[in-house]
Amino acid sequence: VSRPRVVMAVRSNTISAASILTKLQKDCATPLPVLRHVSDAMADDMRAGLATEDGSDLKMILSYVDALPTGNEKGLFYALDLGGTNFRVLRVQLGGKEERVISTEFEQVSIPPELMFGTSEELFDFIASGLAKFAQKEGGKFHLQQGRTRETGFTFSFPVKQTSIDSGILIKWTKGFAVSGTAGKDVVACLNEAMKRQELDMRVSALVNDAVGTLAGARYWDDDVMVAVILGTGTNACYVERIDAIPKLQGPSSKSGRTIVNTEWGAFSNGLPLTEFDREMDAESINPHEQIFEKTISGMYLGEIVRRVLLRMAEGAELFGHSVPEELLMPFALRTPDICAMQKDTSKDLEEVGLILYDVVGVNSCTNARKVVIDVCDTIAKRGGRLAGAGIVGILQKMEHNSKGLIFGKRTVVAMDGGLYEHYPQYRRYLQEAVTELLGPEISRNIVIEHSKDGSGIGAALLAATNSKYGHDF
Ligand code: GLC
Repeated sequence: VSRPRVVMAVRSNTISAASILTKLQKDCATPLPVLRHVSDAMADDMRAGLATEDGSDLKMILSYVDALPTGNEKGLFYALDLGGTNFRVLRVQLGGKEERVISTEFEQVSIPPELMFGTSEELFDFIASGLAKFAQKEGGKFHLQQGRTRETGFTFSFPVKQTSIDSGILIKWTKGFAVSGTAGKDVVACLNEAMKRQELDMRVSALVNDAVGTLAGARYWDDDVMVAVILGTGTNACYVERIDAIPKLQGPSSKSGRTIVNTEWGAFSNGLPLTEFDREMDAESINPHEQIFEKTISGMYLGEIVRRVLLRMAEGAELFGHSVPEELLMPFALRTPDICAMQKDTSKDLEEVGLILYDVVGVNSCTNARKVVIDVCDTIAKRGGRLAGAGIVGILQKMEHNSKGLIFGKRTVVAMDGGLYEHYPQYRRYLQEAVTELLGPEISRNIVIEHSKDGSGIGAALLAATNSKYGHDF
């Protein structure tokens, strides 16, 4: 079905799409030396961030999670997850070592876009009211021990300076959020006030980042989990660190001698292969010069980088004929799920690619143009996946350096979560390839990269249990 389109005349036709593609591939290339530089720089930046506050792009935030779930946790717990376009609430009945997870239920609500630019109170009221509605629907499968307050883990997936396991100050928003009045405040206090306005009797027992929640959730089932990585709208990684390797840590140390460190690696920027398209996207973003690794490898941005390349090819090389549809000019019109869907098309005429281009950005394309589009998608996904792999190796190298053989010499699990990792097979393959190239076949056999679906929700509930004011093993 054809529909009328507003189109702009192309500016000039002085350069070919093929030459734009060749330059893009060159600028995005990640041969082994580039990967090695990135993994080494990641390990160095981690060390610098552990040495002093503000000593590095990587904040290396202490999570105050010193005790990981053991399996003994029992009782009814909630989790609340705010981190991207959706917010999720979950309840889980934990039954201890034998029964583990007896029942679980969750609901997901998308966040109205205007709330991402509204006030802190509006956002937290929306969250608390969702939580209150969910709590009211608690059915017979769930059982709260008499006399106890409901307790929740709060997964808040933004950089927070934790002040304890159940308090932390928002450093800044990321991933397109620009809510006024939250930065510099304790987000648990913001939530508590909103819960009070809803007359909801619930206590936040643990404030956790999504990467930290994923690590805790995966560790509940598997003792070899040492690292967790999020590849979704945004990206982040956390890992188990030895207390004596954290010079900036003051005050009482943990009983276990270990703690989870949230790297906030989205802010990494050292030695990345960037293009003019990345620079322009960054300059026009709401957080210029920030989150450069995130802008290069995560789901919020891959589609937008591709759109910018296609726009250049349309304007400068008539990739889609003499005119450019207005939709292609719209920032973020092409989303990462669209480029992923296009890469799934293996048909000769790339019909699905043609349909997506037409539906999403109003483009009429011939088979040759579609092939170029696929090459652009692949170039951007390949760079993202391989750099993510190099980042993971950086973390593993840093851990191995501290404790020779304990990481590379035995099975070590990296728990992964996030829609980008889950739904984009090419990206996943590029990531794994980079890890294997960097570590070599022998060591990489010991490194297991495992999808831990929605682990962060259960993880936050488990950490609420571990940090329950009633004790977790009653
Ligand atoms: C962003 C946030 C970080 C979060 C990540 C993945 O990078 O700053 O806290 O973990 O996105 O959701």
